[in-house]
Amino acid sequence: MSAAQYLSEGREFIDAAICRYLPEETTYPESIHKAMLYSVLAGGKRLRPVLVIAAAEAVGGNRHDVLPFAVATEYVHTYTLIHDDLPALDDDDLRRGKPTNHKVFGEAIAILAGDALLTQAFYLMTYSELMDSVAPGNLLRAAHDMTSALGTAGMIGGQVVDIESEGKPIDAETLEYIHIYKTGHLIKASIRAGAILSQANTEQLNALSTYGAHIGLAFQIVDDILDITADESQLGKDVGSDLGKEKATYPALYGLEESKKKAEKLVEDGIACLDIFDDRADPLREIGRFFVQRTF
Ligand code: IPE
Ligand code: IPE
Ligand code: MG
Ligand code: MG
Ligand code: MG
Repeated sequence: MSAAQYLSEGREFIDAAICRYLPEETTYPESIHKAMLYSVLAGGKRLRPVLVIAAAEAVGGNRHDVLPFAVATEYVHTYTLIHDDLPALDDDDLRRGKPTNHKVFGEAIAILAGDALLTQAFYLMTYSELMDSVAPGNLLRAAHDMTSALGTAGMIGGQVVDIESEGKPIDAETLEYIHIYKTGHLIKASIRAGAILSQANTEQLNALSTYGAHIGLAFQIVDDILDITADESQLGKDVGSDLGKEKATYPALYGLEESKKKAEKLVEDGIACLDIFDDRADPLREIGRFFVQRTF
């Protein structure tokens, strides 16, 4: 199966369950539930939940057993996007092809919608349905892993240094930190979660973690490249946003060509970490390739 096919089937599988764990928009207080659903349903590639599933399947697990956890990673990701777009952070107007959350619902509700999606994600990671399908100890490990990936030793740390580096010359080490932390950690933790919940052994988990670290960094390098080269209607978000804010990006430090090469090399090395797996890891290999070939 090609990456495009796996990703589109994976997205459909996730989308069929994406609202199942959120209150309906008619639930009081309606404004917050409308705002949460607005961003979750705006679309998106659903890469993190698909990675949860692909990692589960690579180690012989079952996608249905990890579904609520996979959906939780998309709630978390959507929260990071809503907050990332706020005027105090990147101040962007377009996301997933629609006006950003704060443009529609105002800043206060957008902040709270992000907070609520984050909270709902952890509610879901400890959901009773999951405790029936996976070992509670593994659930605890995966949820614990996810908290580290999202806190100041993870995504928040990266976002802080990203914001504090605007308009400043930065070195290669700081740039790599920003990208690994703000984006790479959640991607890696999603892969690890699928594996942990599906009883991966230590060798498998280590291999998947290294794969995840490589493709996670590559993903953000390509995100930087697309901010310059992509078509706005296809990308669904503001193009040129990084340039305007003098963001610390790979193209700004290395140029477009060199950045592309770095991303390609990372993906190649990441895929090589999967050599211990049989063809059940082919979707992960294909997703890795998609990470550098994507145009949106
Ligand atoms: C965008 O992520 C934000 C980054 C971490 C670079 P995606 O490119 O996965 O966004 P969606 O989910 O498809 O909208
Ligand atoms: C986003 O990095 C990282 C997180 C949302 C945590 P960017 O700021 O580059 O993401 P986009 O380009 O706005 O999606
Ligand atoms: Mg940002
Ligand atoms: Mg941004
Ligand atoms: Mg970006």
